[in-house]
Amino acid sequence: MLKQTVDYAFQASSCVSLQPKSKLHPESLKRVKENKNGHCTKVMRSVNMENLTSVYLFPEISRREYEHSQRYPNAKIIKLGIGDTSEPIPECIASAMAKQALALSTVEGYSGYGDEQGNKALRKRIAEKFYKNMGIKGEEVFVSDGAQCDISRLQMLLGSHVTVAVQDPSFPAYIDSSVIFGRARNLQGQNGKYDRIVYMKCTPNNDFFPDLSNTPRTDIIFFCSPNNPTGTAASAAQLRRLVDFATANGSIIVYDSSYAAYISDGSPTSIYQIPGAKQVAIEISSFSKFAGFTGVRLGWTVVPEELSYSNGFPIIKDYDRIVCTCFNGASNIVQAGGLACLSDEGFQAVSRVVNYYKENANILAEAFRGLGMVVYGGQNAPYLWVHFPGSSSWELFADILEKTHIVTIPGRGFGPGGESYIRVSSFGHRETILEASERLTSLRKLNFN
Ligand SMILES: Cc1ncc(COP(=O)(O)O)c(C=O)c1O
Repeated sequence: MLKQTVDYAFQASSCVSLQPKSKLHPESLKRVKENKNGHCTKVMRSVNMENLTSVYLFPEISRREYEHSQRYPNAKIIKLGIGDTSEPIPECIASAMAKQALALSTVEGYSGYGDEQGNKALRKRIAEKFYKNMGIKGEEVFVSDGAQCDISRLQMLLGSHVTVAVQDPSFPAYIDSSVIFGRARNLQGQNGKYDRIVYMKCTPNNDFFPDLSNTPRTDIIFFCSPNNPTGTAASAAQLRRLVDFATANGSIIVYDSSYAAYISDGSPTSIYQIPGAKQVAIEISSFSKFAGFTGVRLGWTVVPEELSYSNGFPIIKDYDRIVCTCFNGASNIVQAGGLACLSDEGFQAVSRVVNYYKENANILAEAFRGLGMVVYGGQNAPYLWVHFPGSSSWELFADILEKTHIVTIPGRGFGPGGESYIRVSSFGHRETILEASERLTSLRKLNFN
């Protein structure tokens, strides 16, 4: 019955895939041809860019969504794909930003460049609020325009000689930026893996935590918890093993805690809750999903003073140098918003919104379970990771879109370990989530009639 339900509900109609390119992508060949009669510079395309798949996952999802909307102009498309927040920013936070913006129009309130590392009060507040009793100081917090930009700035800091490991599946920016910085090459068509990147498989069989006894040493380990896309948070015992592994190997963990605000089962919200982590880990985080700042743009990176290179040189000094050279500080308006988020009133208000998204996740999880699917995530993250054993995730994505006008994300887009899964985002207005749930449920009803 389960199999029938799945087959009926999600019978694949067409096969689509985000094609890797081994040497030169057909798209770039086409452009070369098109440019023949026009002017070409004498600048060679970077080999690293040649190595990269032609498009980043999320714009590709948007493109397919747009194509679908052209084919079905009257369909009400429900977007549960790209993890973009939907609910308004609480008024006390928006008005703090408005006040700061207006102050810029006065002689007394005007300010120009701020500290590259961020407003001191905000750095201190982040340290107090998120790293209480973990010994993190405001001076170790670097405020930024978002975690995604920090991932690339860290890549710049670490250089192109380092080796890298990632969870498989994982947020695509870790691998893509590693390729851009020349650390990986030769995407293998069959297995969808880049040479020189270590993929640490995370599945329900290993409780979504890699088998470190089989993991080769790398210089850098990207680790995201709660993980995007699986929605699972690592436990204290698992993170203990990760920190021990990094310590024994002399590796650096780049720990992404962008979804820490969603943790509700007592799992660690920061790697620095694990004793000894300050010697081996950098932490990246964000106001995007915690406070609805996806468009406002604010994040931070913690580089502990204890963390050093093999020659003993403190990494924080180099990161400071990178931030001063390649950034110039986050917007002063946005930083005022960040401080407001961390006031008692602001924090309570954003926590309510986080809970709202988690209720959405419950509603969607029930709908998929009603179809007989096994659903992971949702409890500690705004994402569900839904398993369709034996199916192609790009086919599932296309089929769900075709039959329900609901956009999801094919798990394969997050790495080979995402095959046969789809990621479903719980960001959205409640009525939209309820409608999505109804559409999914109606697939089952059709089957039972
Ligand atoms: C795991 C993870 N890290 C980083 C980011 C980027 O966050 P930001 O909006 O702060 O750039 C995202 C965005 O979806 C994410 O899922």
